Amino acid sequence: MKILLLGSGGREHAIAWKLAQSPKLETLYVAPGNAGTSEVGTNVDLKADDFPGIRQFVLDKGIDMVVVGPEDPLVKGIYDYFKADEHLKGIPVIGPSKQGAVLEGSKDFAKGFMQRHSIPTARYQTFDGEHLEEGLRFLETLQPPYVLKADGLCAGKGVLILPTLEEAKAELREMLGGMFGTASSRVVIEEYLSGIECSVFVLTDGKDYKILPEAKDYKRIGEGDTGLNTGGMGSVSPVPFATKEWMQKVEDRIIRPTVDGLAKEGIDYKGFIFFGLINVDGNPKVIEYNCRMGDPETETVMLRLKTDLVDLLEGVATQTLGRRTVEFDERPAVCVMLVSGGYPEHYEKGFPVTGFDKVGESIFFHAGTAQKEGQIVTNGGRVLAVSNYGTTQAEALAKSMQGAEQVRFEGKYYRRDIGKDLGS
Ligand code: AMP
Ligand code: GLY
Repeated sequence: MKILLLGSGGREHAIAWKLAQSPKLETLYVAPGNAGTSEVGTNVDLKADDFPGIRQFVLDKGIDMVVVGPEDPLVKGIYDYFKADEHLKGIPVIGPSKQGAVLEGSKDFAKGFMQRHSIPTARYQTFDGEHLEEGLRFLETLQPPYVLKADGLCAGKGVLILPTLEEAKAELREMLGGMFGTASSRVVIEEYLSGIECSVFVLTDGKDYKILPEAKDYKRIGEGDTGLNTGGMGSVSPVPFATKEWMQKVEDRIIRPTVDGLAKEGIDYKGFIFFGLINVDGNPKVIEYNCRMGDPETETVMLRLKTDLVDLLEGVATQTLGRRTVEFDERPAVCVMLVSGGYPEHYEKGFPVTGFDKVGESIFFHAGTAQKEGQIVTNGGRVLAVSNYGTTQAEALAKSMQGAEQVRFEGKYYRRDIGKDLGS
């Protein structure tokens, strides 16, 4: 099978690494890819949302399947673009239709969907600029802290958690006044939920679903979950509190109602669903949906997925997922992200990266790297994900620490406490 994978981050390198292990794979192309994906496939100089360029490439190379990494092309409707084209419609796109991607693209839609299908989530209401006064009054009915969410996509920056009513009211005025452009022309105000988060991933063909290994990501820049939010500083899988019993609740109360709800609403969804969950006193609730895999969760999830990913994706494309089984590697996996000095604020790019070709057990997934004059250089805030298996989570972390130390680039920073809060 000839597969084109879209995207260029650590998530895509991890997916590419897994796809490349399949005996069913003939050729893997990654557009645009990064320095890491070029080790397991062929990079193509095309942006992930350049639909006409992708169309031409798919037809020229006789691509059999397109796998979409990031949300952007999905929200822009790449699935529908293929379906509407005489020459492309027979080529499966792994990822939801534009309507399905709205689960991620609009927080208000996601909340309404959960309400319609009785899926546990925080109590909420949505307001637009014409209903500011009602929004302010709704805030008064809630307890602090206050959670305000821009309805649209904001590159992970659209959620504000405010400690006082005064701040929440001021921010609501700002958001509805255009703080995030049109993305915040509507704002979801919701009840604050207290608990530990867990990311659960599912592949669905629209009828059946398969649950992939769960993971937890670490979003803050500083150890002990302090400081600014980032794109993700590391992840662990499995998550100790996601026991069999807890996962059964997740499946019965959240996963099945979501997949059935999509079908009932006539939403074409063949791809990954990412459930951002929070464990509130032993009960899972949905914080958010994403229409793609998580980053950096994928950099541990792919290590723990034993089953051939190409086979599973074929199951999605042909709606025969129900006949496949998914096997997990029982070993814990830990990913530690190496980031540029200054990230998530100002940082510089272009520093040579060395030391990751040396032995050791770490699996290095490139996130923000580039090839320059035959050398790998830093090319983003998040540079390299260092992933490992261990007999215990602590051992996997220790190995990733070794890998993290061995890699060198100017300004390198990483957290040393990934997974330590989970106490295993
Ligand atoms: P989101 O973009 O919806 O994932 O929100 C970003 C982060 O804000 C989440 O990962 C949570 O840590 C936090 N968050 C969002 N909604 C809530 C909530 N209702 N209660 C507590 N924390 C929340
Ligand atoms: N790790 C969270 C995300 O990918 O959105």
